[in-house]
Amino acid sequence: MAASLSVAGTPIPGLLVVRSPVHIDARGWFKEVWHREKMTALGVPDFGPVQANLSYNARRGATRGIHAEPWDKFVTVATGRVHAAWVDLREGESFGATYDVEIDPSVAVFVPRGVGNAYQALEDGTVYTYLVNDHWRSDRTYPAVNLADSTARIPWPISLDSGEAEISDKDRSNPALGEVSAMAPRRTLILGSGGQLGRALAATFPHATLSDSHKLDLTDRAALAKFPWGDYEVVVNAAAFTAVDEAEEPVGRRAAWALNGSVPAALAEVADRHRLTLVHYSTDYVFDGAFIEGGHREDEAFSPLGVYGQSKAAGDLAVATVARHYILRTSWLIGEGANFVRTMQRLATEGKSPSVVDDQIGRLTFVDELSRATRHLLAVGATPGTYNVTNPGPPMSWAEIARRVFELSGRDPADVVSTTTEEYGSGRRLAPRPRWSVLSLDKLGSTGFTGTDADLALRVYLSAPTAGVP
Ligand SMILES: NC(=O)c1ccc[n+]([C@@H]2O[C@H](COP(=O)([O-])OP(=O)(O)OC[C@H]3O[C@@H](n4cnc5c(N)ncnc54)[C@H](OP(=O)(O)O)[C@@H]3O)[C@@H](O)[C@H]2O)c1
Repeated sequence: MAASLSVAGTPIPGLLVVRSPVHIDARGWFKEVWHREKMTALGVPDFGPVQANLSYNARRGATRGIHAEPWDKFVTVATGRVHAAWVDLREGESFGATYDVEIDPSVAVFVPRGVGNAYQALEDGTVYTYLVNDHWRSDRTYPAVNLADSTARIPWPISLDSGEAEISDKDRSNPALGEVSAMAPRRTLILGSGGQLGRALAATFPHATLSDSHKLDLTDRAALAKFPWGDYEVVVNAAAFTAVDEAEEPVGRRAAWALNGSVPAALAEVADRHRLTLVHYSTDYVFDGAFIEGGHREDEAFSPLGVYGQSKAAGDLAVATVARHYILRTSWLIGEGANFVRTMQRLATEGKSPSVVDDQIGRLTFVDELSRATRHLLAVGATPGTYNVTNPGPPMSWAEIARRVFELSGRDPADVVSTTTEEYGSGRRLAPRPRWSVLSLDKLGSTGFTGTDADLALRVYLSAPTAGVP
């Protein structure tokens, strides 16, 4: 019996053997089956069990498996002993790896999703018990391997051909390892994949599943409830209501709150239930634009001026409750399709001389920079939280950016006329806009991300007029 709690790895990646002290006295014994704090400190995943199962094995020789499911398990015995064995059925190099160990009440094993699980009772009346982190579903079939598979060669203490071994007909008919389709890993899902940012994300995550409003209307609660979230490890939400001025109108206000407030709250609930990482995007509009030396930091209190910023702030608060979340706060996004830079480029080539506001200061964010930062935070396993992301460089007003676009388009920058937000808004129904949109990039930099200078990104963007950001 173990004197203290210990956790050991095995040849199957992620399959962990946990040995726990069993406290014995005159009455019997006691042990902690699952102790989240102590066990996660030793490396057991915080796997969030939602169902506990017991299986009673009347006689020595009862043999069950080899079954893999798309959820993690934590297995042990309450009485008796089993010889337990596992076969890795996940896609990848470790497919087919095996491990076996005897389990008594002092031993538990963490079995990761996709690893086939089997055991043989070594004593009459053995009670095998396991915790799982998803509810069993009858509408799906899962990989199983024959207990007697000649490749896996599990050393069962009681021969499967002996009269002592009790095996169900179903388990006897399971296929050989060579006939099993490996279980695919949980995937990445991009929501809002048809939007400006969504299209860039689709290019950055070429293996991701893409979803737009036609495939899944995120405001449809029934559709959200039916969606197979368990198939995904990471959900990247690029869907939003981004029509800042429309959001001030009665119809737009509802749409903005639905998509920017309620949808992230629903996704937060989904993320916690399915233990997935939720990536979400925020905006400088959650701030009132008061000048902050060095730019707005991630932990600044919200102070949105308009409905768009208010609805986005609500979404941020909801997403921030998710255990594994990244909120990438960005400003002045430039991607494919109509946007400020393209409009200025067009006006420059058409010989026009636009009036552009000179009192809103910020930095451009090209969508490939934001996608790259998304991939980076996920790849390095950055601490969950909010990260500001824009292209680095000197803060500029919209008028200064327009002048630079004119210059790069062969026009005289002086052809861009400065105006004020007040003058520009006269006679127009515009949402209030923050004047100081500059975001501090220190936190992102501390994760090892090197940004692409905004002026360099602008030159590259303008030189690829039809393809957008390369
Ligand atoms: N644009 C900016 O300057 C800016 C600045 C700061 C932060 N941001 C943030 O950056 C993120 C991306 O913005 P963006 O400019 O890429 O947005 P976008 O181009 O307006 O795209 C929004 C996407 O949301 C999808 N969508 C709308 N309603 C939906 C629904 N009911 N169900 C599912 N999808 C739905 C749209 O899909 P359909 O086309 O299929 O309807 C569209 O693809 C947002 O979070 C935004 O708030 C943007």
